[in-house]
Amino acid sequence: MAYNLLKGKKGIIFGALDEKSIAWKVAEMAHEEGAEFTLSNTQTAMRFGEINQLAEKCSATIIPADATSTADLTRVFEESMNIFGGKVDFVLHSIGMSLNVRKKRVYNDLNHDFFMKTLDISAISFHKMLQVANKLDAINEWGSVVALSYIAAQRTLYGYNDMADAKALLESIARSFGYIYGREKRIRINTISQSPTKTTAGSGVKGIDGLMDFTDRMSPLGNATADECAGYCITLFSDLTRKVTMQNLFHDGGFSSMGMSLKAMNMYNKSMSCDCDDVEENIVED
Ligand SMILES: NC(=O)c1ccc[n+]([C@@H]2O[C@H](COP(=O)([O-])OP(=O)(O)OC[C@H]3O[C@@H](n4cnc5c(N)ncnc54)[C@H](O)[C@@H]3O)[C@@H](O)[C@H]2O)c1
Repeated sequence: MAYNLLKGKKGIIFGALDEKSIAWKVAEMAHEEGAEFTLSNTQTAMRFGEINQLAEKCSATIIPADATSTADLTRVFEESMNIFGGKVDFVLHSIGMSLNVRKKRVYNDLNHDFFMKTLDISAISFHKMLQVANKLDAINEWGSVVALSYIAAQRTLYGYNDMADAKALLESIARSFGYIYGREKRIRINTISQSPTKTTAGSGVKGIDGLMDFTDRMSPLGNATADECAGYCITLFSDLTRKVTMQNLFHDGGFSSMGMSLKAMNMYNKSMSCDCDDVEENIVED
């Protein structure tokens, strides 16, 4: 059911790769809610070709960009403003990638060139985006910018690797720029800390199936899906949340406030009653 929450609003959505992507779901819902927007992703993502279907469905123009390139980002904002004949009202940063995760380098044996790339793609790109938009004065008063984060920014979760550091930086950038944007332009900047979700990026996380089962058992409302995350993004782009800024907003079914749940305890007790010597022999530490 649509509520026309974004009627008349213009935006830019970064990071829709395929129909599992959180950004894809946001684009579909933003379209249903009456927004017009441009889509951006890397040339590599373009080659997969799926984003063209999304663009067609939402009558959106695609503007390719590597989010680590200030020149590319400048082009995305300038072209978007040309298309809309003015500033935008919302921006979604739904970008993340770690070569260390991809290449299975563990946290105490990181490739530091890859680490720099992780930070550049997954966090500093957000700073570049906000700096470019600020210099171009590309966002309307009371506009809204959202980036996607994960609880590993605050708590250590086995297997999340250098992406944890990237998310901590991302959340800090949202606060630091949130102050400047709020003070000077009445624009809000927030991050949403989403449940683990089975997307292309999510599937790369070590032990994602076990992690998702655990967080689902631990969360009183269960894991939040990509569709539900899109719904939360839409509320933050709407005029109903105009005084929410500089926040990291958990969208995780309650996981972040839990210590132990009955469902998780039951599972743990079940594993205690099995032959644990066998299990321990199979544990590999990193
Ligand atoms: N899936 C999860 O479990 C989960 C949980 C919490 C937060 N998030 C975050 O949500 C965001 C979206 O991820 P997703 O789960 O939808 O996966 P996804 O793989 O669909 O999206 C990641 C996107 O990042 C883009 N990207 C990578 N390098 C880029 C670059 N240099 N320039 C521009 N774009 C680039 C990819 O092309 C892709 O579209 C990411 O920030 C991710 O960390 C995901």
